[in-house]
Amino acid sequence: MSFPDGFLWGAGTSAYQIEGHHGRGESVWDEFCRRPGAVEGGGDASRACDSFLRWREDVELIRELGLGAYRFSTGWSRVMPEGTRADPRALDHYERFVDALLDAGVEPVLTLNHWDMPAGMSWAERSTAHAFASYAGAVAERLADRVTWWITQNEPWIIALLGYQLGLHAPGVADLGTAVKAGHHVLLGHGAAADVLHAHAGVMAGAALSLFPCDPATGSEADWAAAAGSDGYVNRWYLDPLLGDGYPADTREHWERALGHDLAFVLDGDEAAIGGRSDFLGINYYTRRVMAAAPADPFPWRVVGPSGDVARTDEGWEINPGALRDLLIGLSRRFPGTPLMITENGGVFGDAPTHDGRVHDTRRIAYLRDHVAAVGEAVDAGADVRGYLHWSLMDNFEWALGYRPRFGLVHVDYATGVRTIKDSGHYYARLIAGGGTAPALPRIEAFG
Ligand code: FCB
Repeated sequence: MSFPDGFLWGAGTSAYQIEGHHGRGESVWDEFCRRPGAVEGGGDASRACDSFLRWREDVELIRELGLGAYRFSTGWSRVMPEGTRADPRALDHYERFVDALLDAGVEPVLTLNHWDMPAGMSWAERSTAHAFASYAGAVAERLADRVTWWITQNEPWIIALLGYQLGLHAPGVADLGTAVKAGHHVLLGHGAAADVLHAHAGVMAGAALSLFPCDPATGSEADWAAAAGSDGYVNRWYLDPLLGDGYPADTREHWERALGHDLAFVLDGDEAAIGGRSDFLGINYYTRRVMAAAPADPFPWRVVGPSGDVARTDEGWEINPGALRDLLIGLSRRFPGTPLMITENGGVFGDAPTHDGRVHDTRRIAYLRDHVAAVGEAVDAGADVRGYLHWSLMDNFEWALGYRPRFGLVHVDYATGVRTIKDSGHYYARLIAGGGTAPALPRIEAFG
């Protein structure tokens, strides 16, 4: 298995999940966290990992792990506290941070919208796409001379689903029609921001999609149709327009049927303004969806599987690296010429420091090893994959689930802010040092 030269080995975080408040503007997520019951455990991100203050320590950890790349986001509500004008002090902060990464030999991968938009804004409004482009312009003005990799939008489907369809994320809207509209505006925002970014030479602009391969629960024709419908809803509805094919007809018909009207908010020229602007595709992969037909409206399918005794994370998600390999190979065949990057992949494993002060998260080690191997197999099969960014560098504020799920290669003690590299972090460091070759799994005592 050979990863190409220059392959980016890294990890990711996002501003809202790690920084803490420290003088940023009010964000839609601040409002959402105040709603009773919105966040498990009643927590909020006012402190989180305190990374706004402890960022030098974070860079030190990144250096210690030997990461070649770090994905982070600029806080939209920090850069534009009132949503319209950039705060130069916020940009100074991110400039210092990027310079520290570059000094450490780490390639920055910068996400513009990792969900923390300024309070009062909503993707239900078309004008938000333009506001987003002006925010992108302010950040690019400062950083495009030294940041190559830019992610415009993080997970358009999840934004639409949790933020506007189910109301489980900010801004907490639960309306199907609004969700479809919001998803469209998120994609328009990608197009508008990518155009702004492309005014700067050498920039690679792309969006990060949460892709969930959809498999039928049985070989029945109805389950195959359910899997195809779900694939349209979750994956193709975003993938196809981004990569220049326009909205898929089957899913568009599904929406028109379910909503009982045309998608009047998709104006002439919109698809052309979304497609053809991605220099790469970011892929956030966690698990797959196993689908069966269901009579329910508005979705004639439901997630049922997998059945049987499969490996799962502590959040109950099936661990399936083979589906990642097949996804990468399938994408590279369908969209030849579009480089791929794994922008997120990881799992919840709740291990905490033990009597020896170390975190023996052996299941995360196995997860990491097996998913990296799957990426390697896809590369061997010809997929143009440019990097693997594990989610996450460190435990952090996991949105509506609060601080319970731990995704980090580094453990964070939220009471003190103390960071401890887990065994998985030490393992990843060795894997990176070996160019992606999985080190034999030594006895856990040998880590560190
Ligand atoms: C993704 C998000 C990321 C984190 C992981 C676990 O949906 O992009 O911020 O929540 O899931």
